[in-house]
Amino acid sequence: MNYPVTELSSWHALANHAPILKKSVLRDLFFDYPERGHWFAAHGAGLYLDYSKNAVNEETIRLLIQLAEERFLPQRRAAMFSGEIVNLSEERAALHTALRAPRDAMILAEGRNVVPGIHAMLDRMREFSEQVRNGTWTGASGKPIRHIVHIGIGGSYLGPEMAYQALRSFRQKGLDVRFVANVDGAAFIEATETIDPAETLFIVCSETFTTPETMANARAARQWIVTALGEQAVSRHFVAMSTNADAIREFGIASEQTFGFWNWVGGRYSMESAIGLSTMIAIGPAHFEQLLQGFRAMDEHFLHAPMEENLPILMGLLSIWNNNFLGADTLAILPYAHELRRLPAYLQQLHMESNGKCVGEHGESLTHQTCPIVWGEPGTDAQHSFYQLLHQGTRQIACDLIGFCEPLSGLAEHHDQLMANLFAQAEALAFGKSAEDLRTEGVSEKTIPHQVCPGNRSSNVILAEALTPYTLGSLVALYEHSVFVQGAIWGVDSFDQWGVQLGKALAQRILPALSANKMNFNLHDSSTQGLLNRYLRHKMS
Ligand code: F6P
Repeated sequence: MNYPVTELSSWHALANHAPILKKSVLRDLFFDYPERGHWFAAHGAGLYLDYSKNAVNEETIRLLIQLAEERFLPQRRAAMFSGEIVNLSEERAALHTALRAPRDAMILAEGRNVVPGIHAMLDRMREFSEQVRNGTWTGASGKPIRHIVHIGIGGSYLGPEMAYQALRSFRQKGLDVRFVANVDGAAFIEATETIDPAETLFIVCSETFTTPETMANARAARQWIVTALGEQAVSRHFVAMSTNADAIREFGIASEQTFGFWNWVGGRYSMESAIGLSTMIAIGPAHFEQLLQGFRAMDEHFLHAPMEENLPILMGLLSIWNNNFLGADTLAILPYAHELRRLPAYLQQLHMESNGKCVGEHGESLTHQTCPIVWGEPGTDAQHSFYQLLHQGTRQIACDLIGFCEPLSGLAEHHDQLMANLFAQAEALAFGKSAEDLRTEGVSEKTIPHQVCPGNRSSNVILAEALTPYTLGSLVALYEHSVFVQGAIWGVDSFDQWGVQLGKALAQRILPALSANKMNFNLHDSSTQGLLNRYLRHKMS
């Protein structure tokens, strides 16, 4: 397994095969094989994936599957699901799949079945959620809770915020959730300025309970409650999620209001753990169960569907193909659903914190490209900003367009228009518009070069019936497993994130000087020092 991926025969074969597909034209591929749209498609766990508008043929898929086999993907997948240590640098299992396992499953981590503990936690979350939702959990002055403020950052925030937006139609009326992640005080002020402390519950989420941004916001929240309602109110207005029970106790939150989880769940894989309490309160335990079922269905599909029909495997391998062999080193996430507007941000962390690495899992330097840059915005907004570059720019950009057959808004006409745009954009990206087409339409010779759209831009279309909790769980698990597949092929540890430590440590070194208004010359390079001095001069003036 330690063998460089670039030395594998399938990698070489793909490298030799790539120039043929680079030269091929999607129009011709569809002309030669009119059934292509049906053939290069797969479905599972409520999702339909059309990948026919990628520059692939049957041979490409065969070679990519050979690559997965040569890279022992089935064995790696089994190791992850069964709780083996797959996060080598931190010597941990990565058992997020256990979070959605059924009650009677048996999954061992360090020799102990983790499933009963997970379900005990879910039961406590259900009980607490119901109390908040039906008003039996009140604030210190007896008022029911009407506002939840979820405090956390990165994986302790992006999933819950994304899910809260995505599942808007399933939320309980009269109960809103706000999110505070940034240590910029404006985020805290914005979340709290119009709400009544007596009706507010803070949910502090931090795996480590040491993350400075989260701790600063949690302290501000504590102060806000104490100022308005007194010290004794803290116990009615705070709950916490963490693996660090001691730090929560020190903060002053009682163990009954603490929901733990485990260090074998990485932050970016934790939205259905206790970190999802705000989601459960917002949509209710029954809908949360449907979310878990969606995750579970995609887990089953990933485990059992043959590779050539397996959505996460196909998506992961296509991403490798586009990135490593065709040079599309960015991936645009383009949901045609207003509710999924935070999906690109969520998937940025999922992909880039997992696979943004230049070192292999055994510490070796990697010579091949790893994670693509992930970005995106919902359609149709994005069509009026950056799609110009997608259609006529000099780069190849892989695109995932995501849409739903049923509208959630009740405005059916809007929905047809929205989906017409999705289908049209995928068509335009693939087939473009040639000079010949334009000439036939009578376009002037002068403007023809400007109007030509070269086409041949790779895209996946993911289509589901409706954006429900089930579909969302399935969609998130699809991307989780696709990221896993890519990491396994590249040979990186997809579950650590050492790269974020350096900046955090340097900020902690700079902060005391800023707080004390002290100009420490010669501690930093001339650029950093110059910026610090400028900031301090302004602060002290
Ligand atoms: O930025 C790195 C990171 O550790 C993420 O992986 C994590 O999701 C985030 O910070 C928050 O960490 P915590 O949950 O420990 O506060």
